[in-house]
Amino acid sequence: MSYDIPDKQQAWRVVSRGHPSRALKLEEIDVPKKLGKGEILVKVQAAALNPVGWKLMSYLPNFIARRPLVPEHDLAGIVVDPHDSDFHVGDEVFGWIPTNINISTGQGALSQYTRLPAINVLRRPDNVTPVEAAGIPLAAMTALQGLTDAAKLREGQTVFINGGSSSVGLFAVYIAKAMGAKVVASASGRNEDFVRSLGVDEFVDYTQVPLYQHLTSNPPAPKFDVIFDAVGLVDPSLYKHSESYLAPGGVYVSTGPTPDFTSWGGSSGMRNMLSTVLAIARPRWLGGVKRSWKLVTVTHKEKDLARLRDLLAEGKLKPIVDSVHEFPNALQAYERIMTSRATGKVVVKIADS
Ligand SMILES: NC(=O)c1ccc[n+]([C@@H]2O[C@H](COP(=O)([O-])OP(=O)(O)OC[C@H]3O[C@@H](n4cnc5c(N)ncnc54)[C@H](OP(=O)(O)O)[C@@H]3O)[C@@H](O)[C@H]2O)c1
Repeated sequence: MSYDIPDKQQAWRVVSRGHPSRALKLEEIDVPKKLGKGEILVKVQAAALNPVGWKLMSYLPNFIARRPLVPEHDLAGIVVDPHDSDFHVGDEVFGWIPTNINISTGQGALSQYTRLPAINVLRRPDNVTPVEAAGIPLAAMTALQGLTDAAKLREGQTVFINGGSSSVGLFAVYIAKAMGAKVVASASGRNEDFVRSLGVDEFVDYTQVPLYQHLTSNPPAPKFDVIFDAVGLVDPSLYKHSESYLAPGGVYVSTGPTPDFTSWGGSSGMRNMLSTVLAIARPRWLGGVKRSWKLVTVTHKEKDLARLRDLLAEGKLKPIVDSVHEFPNALQAYERIMTSRATGKVVVKIADS
């Protein structure tokens, strides 16, 4: 079987640093037919956005980002040139282009065709659509690596997930439950039914009272073994007070506090960031927090993508889609994800299945 690959394609490209409405252009560019060792060419059916996409666009200087480049990491699509891999033309896959590869090759998910390492994709399970599968890799792998590599969560332990309705958080809920852990999760009240439907054992509405106050006044018994901040809080309070509700030897894992760099001048974001750095760095013998703080930085691991694929196929990890946007309307997708209010993945549909 062969596929008639066009010479040209439509692709969104980041042409300068800034807000997506200014930085992104829909352009006609060459289809990347020249493949390196281990690379395949994929016709993209759907691309899912992640906050890292607009954060890199907004903050990363041009000399590091090597623009113009196609943004975004997560995709589902059809293999149209398997090159030297074990894939075949027509295989339906899902996977991702990590940030380092995105920056070094200029290849991203928000284009009709993209080339990427074959080891970064797997065949898509039959029980999920391309739009659903596209949202899995980056966020679910972050959740998996946060809970396993960073926190070493074990069966029977209790984890508090801050942001049970964020993409990373909701996948963390599924994965922690699949591991046999007890899960307590937070979200705003409007998301309570949704977060409970994921299977959490207890829910906390963070908008009623600051989380650290709620947890200090109502400490869990026994204390949490793991706190996973799946939102990337810039306010360090949840960590600073964690001795009251995180067990000795327990671990606090963060997806990474990211202040709003556009309003650093005298902003609370800047003060909170400094306060977080001090809280993490201060040694215990100088009054520092007597609990470990760890950062999860998602990296591609074939075994992790395979584990996510198996959980998906078994129905233990369910894709949650917040909204689907047509390819020419990708800027609306950025508007949605930048609200920080999406419940599940914001997906751009690029081709029909
Ligand atoms: N370090 C890494 O490798 C890595 C990888 C992936 C993501 N991240 C970071 O992780 C964070 C989450 O990413 P994501 O894709 O999951 O984001 P997302 O899906 O866009 O998150 C949106 C959700 O966050 C919830 N939320 C917002 N503020 C909250 C708060 N203060 N407390 C609890 N929930 C809150 C919202 O629920 P409510 O409307 O109910 O508040 C909404 O449902 C981002 O900062 C991202 O950059 C880091």
